[in-house]
Amino acid sequence: MIQLPVKIFLLGFMGSGKSHWGQIWASKSHLKFYDLDATIEHSFKMTIADIFEKEGEEKFRELERYYLRKIENEKNFVLACGGGTPCFSDNMTWMTAQGTTIYLKADPETLLNQVILETEKRPVIKKINPSELLFFIQGKLQEREPFYSQAAVTLPVEQLHDDSLVELLQLIK
Ligand code: S3P
Repeated sequence: MIQLPVKIFLLGFMGSGKSHWGQIWASKSHLKFYDLDATIEHSFKMTIADIFEKEGEEKFRELERYYLRKIENEKNFVLACGGGTPCFSDNMTWMTAQGTTIYLKADPETLLNQVILETEKRPVIKKINPSELLFFIQGKLQEREPFYSQAAVTLPVEQLHDDSLVELLQLIK
């Protein structure tokens, strides 16, 4: 299930906990942790929100594709992708060939509760009226599910805990 050397790509919708769990799991498993959005912000010296606003989504997707591939020669890491990463370019195919993709699967209500208070920093949902956000998430999730569901492993978000990755890694030892 998990391939060696360990190269973990965490996938999932905004608010599914990719960065949160990624940091905990990497530290517990003595792996490096990378956050793709943070890498883009740091390298491009702009926030994701500003990139979308000033350069447009297409430019952001180009940067996302470029910085994802920068990890090609790394190993023993956990990378938290952005919510859209697997759904653009040929990123899903690329990640599948590189290592192990793990989908953090959550239902739309859970995701809504996670993102509702911080829509400002998330350009994809920033302009959506809060009363329509659940409907928007349901639709976007449905659109993205064909990509997310290609992941090698799917973990329901409600059941995640500090040792979820440790347990998965034990399966290969
Ligand atoms: C996006 C999700 C964001 C970020 C960008 C686009 C998306 O990442 O990459 O705003 O298309 O779903 P998070 O999932 O970490 O919020």
